[in-house]
Amino acid sequence: MFTGSSRAFRVYMDANATTPLLPEVVEAMRPYWMEHFGNASSIHLDGQKARTALDRARETIAEFFNCHDAEVVFNSGGTEGDNTALFGLLRPGDHLITTSIEHSAVLHAAKRMAEHGVETTFVAPQASGLMDPMDILRAIRPETRLISVMLANNETGVLQPVKEIGEIARDKGVFFHIDAVQGAGKVRFDARRFGCHLLSISAHKMHGPKGVGAMFVRRGTPVESLLVGGSHERRRRAGTENVAGIVGLAKAAELAMQSLEDGTIERVAALRDRLEAEVLRIPGTGLNGAGPDGKPVARAANTSNIWFDHLEGEALVIALDLKGVAVSGGSACHSGATEPSHVLLAMGLDKNRARASLRFSLLKTATEADVDHVLRVVPEAVEHLRAVSPVEAGTLG
Ligand SMILES: Cc1ncc(COP(=O)(O)O)c(C=O)c1O
Repeated sequence: MFTGSSRAFRVYMDANATTPLLPEVVEAMRPYWMEHFGNASSIHLDGQKARTALDRARETIAEFFNCHDAEVVFNSGGTEGDNTALFGLLRPGDHLITTSIEHSAVLHAAKRMAEHGVETTFVAPQASGLMDPMDILRAIRPETRLISVMLANNETGVLQPVKEIGEIARDKGVFFHIDAVQGAGKVRFDARRFGCHLLSISAHKMHGPKGVGAMFVRRGTPVESLLVGGSHERRRRAGTENVAGIVGLAKAAELAMQSLEDGTIERVAALRDRLEAEVLRIPGTGLNGAGPDGKPVARAANTSNIWFDHLEGEALVIALDLKGVAVSGGSACHSGATEPSHVLLAMGLDKNRARASLRFSLLKTATEADVDHVLRVVPEAVEHLRAVSPVEAGTLG
């Protein structure tokens, strides 16, 4: 992809962080900034136009989720959806089951709930990054009110057995929330088949705008609203609706449904597989997300997470950025310090390998030329970094 001013060839392979809007999404949103700017709660014609747009968007998202229109709640994105599931359902004395590989929007919400008398069990994944539904079952207690498990992990792409977990939740009479932020648009999904009560998505991970998302809230689920005020969204989420953003979310979802049917996702998977196979030919590398047989477990089509021994992942991210490639490393900044990824640590990687891991996450518009460019620069950058400042495996803190 050529970027504006520098005309330099840049490849953006950090789709799990965020994605650009597709042109069709921009076009769908455009009228709702100025021409149809009405407040969907107003009774005049301008308000009615906004209301009609919201109703249409709700129908599209209901189709995307496979639910009734009344079970769709628009919000500000994944963090709000995840927070709502936990804060809205849990009360002092309740028990929550989640996993140690969730996004911080769930993990930090669980920590907050501990201050309100809610105990949490963080179930660990297997070495492949896959959760064992039996581990979830074993964690259930009489006080367990909610299970929250993600559909696709943001770092490894590993797809979790949410349908099996949904069956366990149903049998035990426990509420079930799915953070589907990274699965949405990448795998076929169906809130009903998953057996969940709540499910969260975010537009900006699927070529829609930032700061907008939606939740599936199964009819009758007693989830309390985080925001109070007006009676928007059937009193489940107060605040004047972000009409343009919601229209953008719905267009992105419509395009995502097409991509799941027209071969786009298979094409992205083939690009990812070629990239991965070639990168893994570099000595001292390995895949995060492989089963005991060394083969990858089921993953979102666009994601590959690879460790590189004898180098610092952050240095590699910077070196690749300078060569026109945007990827993410296996560490995150917490309180000013760089900490290895909690997901990779939970999978049993040591700190060095977790730090020396890279996530490649392809846009659905990725091309062969993008992969060619990445394959040109990654081996060179790895060789160079290992030569100038070799990091001994196992010697970093
Ligand atoms: C799995 C997962 N859940 C939740 C979020 C938060 O979504 P948002 O950025 O819309 O708040 C993210 C974003 O990185 C994510 O990857």
